Amino acid sequence: NNWEYIKTEVAGEKKNVAVITLNRPKALNALCNGLMKELSTALQGFGKDSSIAAIVLTGSEKAFAAGADIKEMAPNTYSQCIQGNFLNDWTEVARTQKPIIAAVNGYALGGGNELAMMCDIIYAGEKAKFGQPEIALGTIPGAGGTQRLARAVGKSNAMEICLTGNMVGAQQAQQMGLVSKVFPPDQLLAEAIKTAEKIGTHSNLIIQLCKEAVNTAYETTLQEGLKFERRTFHATFSTADRKEGMQAFVEKRPAQFKNE
Ligand code: HXC
Repeated sequence: NNWEYIKTEVAGEKKNVAVITLNRPKALNALCNGLMKELSTALQGFGKDSSIAAIVLTGSEKAFAAGADIKEMAPNTYSQCIQGNFLNDWTEVARTQKPIIAAVNGYALGGGNELAMMCDIIYAGEKAKFGQPEIALGTIPGAGGTQRLARAVGKSNAMEICLTGNMVGAQQAQQMGLVSKVFPPDQLLAEAIKTAEKIGTHSNLIIQLCKEAVNTAYETTLQEGLKFERRTFHATFSTADRKEGMQAFVEKRPAQFKNE
């Protein structure tokens, strides 16, 4: 594929990790429509590719993404936003069935932070900076910055980030629970790929069910979520991979999963 705004490659010893790199250096990876369309297309492609177990999404050392493209968005009117369903293209990341890890170096601001939060795991480089600066532009977050952030870091932290527009560093983001691990910038991508490879040693089929179950925690009440989890757990007993996983344990050998 000949991309203009992203780069894609396949990584890992088994070549089962897709790496998507946002690549619009002149604008600090500002997320223009063209970039988001390419990202959606790439995600759909890797989603259908059975050789890919997990996806890593990253940017440059300076910026994961500095937000929606302010220059592109500035002339929008209310009626255009509604009739063009502005931001509808953004949800592909959250719809991806495969695990997706955001490897954030540099700025993850506005839509950039929202994009990272649509991923399943966020790893950060030590110099990463997260923020929702929309308030300074006279607008508010529009792709999860008030919702996913509040769930990730709690009300007081989310309010402070959204109302002040101040950035938080990698360590602070980790303390809040936004980020799961922090690495030196030059090790970040390799560590994200390593985690994706570890995920990829398991059954892709069961991984998909597990991701869906964790995501359900964010979308429902505890009782409904527990019910969903229990039924999904039961459902794993209809798969060949569940049989193989337990059989392999009993026989003290590595499991050979077939994603069936
Ligand atoms: C368009 C952007 C941009 C953006 C940076 N650029 N961010 N262009 N949209 N979000 C461009 C600059 O205009 C500049 O282009 C070039 O990238 C380099 O940026 P500088 O500002 O010169 O770099 P620096 O001084 O290092 O400052 C870095 C920065 C700053 C702190 C990240 O660029 C910044 O504040 N950017 C805006 C961050 C922001 O407000 N994001 C939220 C957007 S709103 P030129 O051509 O001038 O050299 C949003 C809404 C989400 O995301 C709604 C839901 C999706």
